[in-house]
Amino acid sequence: MTPVENALDEWPSFSMVPEDDILPLSKRPSGQTLSRHIWWDGELREAEPMSVHYYSNALHYGTAVFEGIRCYPTEKGPALFRLKEHIQRLLHSARLYGMVVPFSEQQLIDGAIAVTRENQIENGYLRPLAFFGPGPIDLKPKRECPVRAFIAARELGSFLGEGALRNGIRVTVSSWRKFHHTMLPTMAKASGHYANSVLAAHEALDRGYDDALLLNHEGTVSSATGENVFFVRHGHLYTNDESSSIVPGITRDTVLKLAEELQVPVTIKSFTREELLRADEVFLTGTAAEVTPVREIDGAEFRTGKKSFGATFQRAYLRVVTGKVPEHAAWLSYVN
Ligand SMILES: Cc1ncc(COP(=O)(O)O)c(C=O)c1O
Repeated sequence: MTPVENALDEWPSFSMVPEDDILPLSKRPSGQTLSRHIWWDGELREAEPMSVHYYSNALHYGTAVFEGIRCYPTEKGPALFRLKEHIQRLLHSARLYGMVVPFSEQQLIDGAIAVTRENQIENGYLRPLAFFGPGPIDLKPKRECPVRAFIAARELGSFLGEGALRNGIRVTVSSWRKFHHTMLPTMAKASGHYANSVLAAHEALDRGYDDALLLNHEGTVSSATGENVFFVRHGHLYTNDESSSIVPGITRDTVLKLAEELQVPVTIKSFTREELLRADEVFLTGTAAEVTPVREIDGAEFRTGKKSFGATFQRAYLRVVTGKVPEHAAWLSYVN
C-alpha cells in the first residue's frame, strides 16, 4: 500500500476535520473584516483615508497586477504561506505588462510582514497590488503613468465557507470560455483578466451553483474562476498546465509536491470535460479556496468525505500551512 492508502485507512473520518486539533477551522473568522492599516507605496498608513485617483489607468483598462497571500496561525505565531513565491509572481506579472514596480522583492516581502504584524492578523489574506496610476487617456500607460503599489490586509477564514471545505461545492461549466494564452498572458495575475472570471462566477451564481469551471476554446478544461482543477481516477491524480491557459497556482504546486511525498501517481496533461465527468473525485486549489472538494458538476456527483483523496490533500495542506510539518518550514514566513 502507498502511504496515502495507509492514511486513508487510518484516519477516522473526514467529517471530523473541524474538530481535529490540527485544523482549527472552527476558530476561523467568519467575516472578512478590513484591517486598519495598509502598506502604501512603502509606508504603513491608516487604510481608511487612502484612495485611488479616478483617472488611474488601472481603473479604466484593468492595468493592475496583484496577488493573494494567506496568513495562518501557527504555534510560533502568525505566518505567511509561500510569501516569496507570491511576491516573485507579482513582479513577473508586472513585467509582462511593462510595469516597473518601484520596490524590490525584499521591500515587498518586508512590507507584507509589516502590514500583517501591524494589523495583528492571524487568519488573514493579503492583497498586494501594483497599478498604473493617473496619466493621459491612452493605452500606453508605461510611458507616463506612475506605478503605485499597496499591500492591503483583511481577516479571512474559509473562503467558500466551512461547509465547502468539509462537504465540497457544486460547480457548473460556464458558457464563457477561458481566454487563450495567445490572447492575454494567462500566467499573470492581472486585474483585467478577471472580467472573464466575474462573468463565469455571476453565471454560476444565477444558476444556483457555488463556482464555475471554464473551458478553453479547444473544449479542454482550463480552471475554475480563481482555482486550479485536479481530479482523481483509480487512485491517480491529474491536473493541467500552462498550455491549458491556467494561472499555475502556488497551491497547485504545493499539492503536487505533497502528492510526490504521499506517493500518489500524478499526470499533468490537458483534459476534456468528459474526462473530468468520469473522475472519481474532483477538487479545486487556490490560496483563498485552499483545497476544496467538488461534490457536483452540473448534476454529476463525485466522491467526497472521509477516505477521499481530496480530504487527504486538504488535511496535508492545512498541516503544512499551519506549521505542523517541519520539512516544509521554509514555506512559512513568520510575522513576529
Ligand atoms: C484563475 C486562477 N487560477 C488559479 C489560481 C490559484 O492560484 P494560487 O494557488 O497561487 O492562489 C488563482 C488564484 O490566484 C486564480 O485566480
